[in-house]
Amino acid sequence: MSKENQSNTAGIDLQFDRDHLWHPYTSMANALPAYGVVSAEGVELQLEDGTKLVDGTSSWWACVHGYSHPKIVAAMQQQTAQLSHVMFGGITHRPAVELARLLIEMTSPKLTKVFLADSGSIAVEVAMKMALQYWQGKAKPNKQKILTIKNGYHGDTFAAMSVCDPEGGMHTMFGELVTKQLFAPAPQSCFDGDFDPTELSEISNLFEDNHHQIAALLVEPIMQGAGGMRFYHPEYLASLRKLCDKYDVLLILDEIATGFGRTGKLFAYEHSGIEADILCLGKALTGGYISLAATLCSNEVAQGVSDSPAGVFMHGPTFMGNPLACSAAIASLELLQENHWQGQVNAIESQLKQELTEAIDYPNVTDVRILGSVGVLEMNATLNTAELQQQFVDLGVWIRPFSNLIYIMPPYCISSSQLSKLTNAMKTVAKQINLPDDNSAFISHG
Ligand SMILES: Cc1ncc(COP(=O)(O)O)c(C=O)c1O
Repeated sequence: MSKENQSNTAGIDLQFDRDHLWHPYTSMANALPAYGVVSAEGVELQLEDGTKLVDGTSSWWACVHGYSHPKIVAAMQQQTAQLSHVMFGGITHRPAVELARLLIEMTSPKLTKVFLADSGSIAVEVAMKMALQYWQGKAKPNKQKILTIKNGYHGDTFAAMSVCDPEGGMHTMFGELVTKQLFAPAPQSCFDGDFDPTELSEISNLFEDNHHQIAALLVEPIMQGAGGMRFYHPEYLASLRKLCDKYDVLLILDEIATGFGRTGKLFAYEHSGIEADILCLGKALTGGYISLAATLCSNEVAQGVSDSPAGVFMHGPTFMGNPLACSAAIASLELLQENHWQGQVNAIESQLKQELTEAIDYPNVTDVRILGSVGVLEMNATLNTAELQQQFVDLGVWIRPFSNLIYIMPPYCISSSQLSKLTNAMKTVAKQINLPDDNSAFISHG
């Protein structure tokens, strides 16, 4: 058969997909089934056979306003017709300028410079590179290490991997290729529990002993996402800011998962009343419609970068500042205000507390955690994602467990009955689950 004849125009060729297409964190030799989605509207995904699933993932935490929102669709259609893409070297355009203005206004006063990158991982690479160049500009070229905390996840590219959890991440797999960074224990004090200051002793020692070679501390503020959906104490983050100031280390906050309201504040650092020197944004930036990320920094950092021997910041991807993605982001940021995101997220949080808390009494559930529009059931063993996925689809919802976690991060526009459908499905599956079944190779949200 010729290659052309093999294509199936009647529908999604799931067999071809299985034989030829990589999916995130999967094997091509032993591919897991993928579900064919033909369209999505509001909070529902529609499968090929007409089945509608209430989406509990916001397409990996990005689609905060739901799918096919007329405002974002119109903005993108108009932008495609006018200027879909143009190189950013030597050229600028209204969507990039307007988006940068909005981001500067929304984030803390110190952040005044914006680098528009193409994905979250790249935003992290850019942040790390900025920190390294900054110290070159400050004539302290030995400051090249990144300090971080265990259980973190910052992306799949090489610099980003170097700051992911060293045990549960991909460090062992890529051995010497992953730069050796400095890791402190993961924070233990829970978001709404008591703060135990003694948990700072190890990270304080790392600062004390290594500050002359530490360029930046890089952490996910308040919520460690793909590394375990853990919510830590705001006082811990505030203390990290103080340590950075004391030891002359930059603070990079990775708000790629937490930004734009997810944890109940517009940005998670607001829980701690602190500011970053460098801030990474992504995911919900475009409402989840198209890939775009941003790395913001202070005047001070930008000046240091310019004072480095290169004189310029050494990064510039082909699709930098893509106008189509910027126009989606502008529409999405406007929608956050128009839809009163705070009210939406507060309502989700109180319903999650009402409906999920009882699951703590189930035999296999070891913890129930809720913060903003994130609801997590932690189980006592690793879950079989493929098996549970089918159970959730049978229950009419799209929930994708990973590691030992069943969690949801729904779009903010979800209705109360749709949210109940998600929480009921979580409880049904958590109650009847058969454990253990070790199928997790490494931490990822795959
Ligand atoms: C905190 C955090 N940083 C970075 C990334 C990487 O973003 P991307 O998948 O867009 O490269 C993710 C993705 O889940 C993330 O959760």
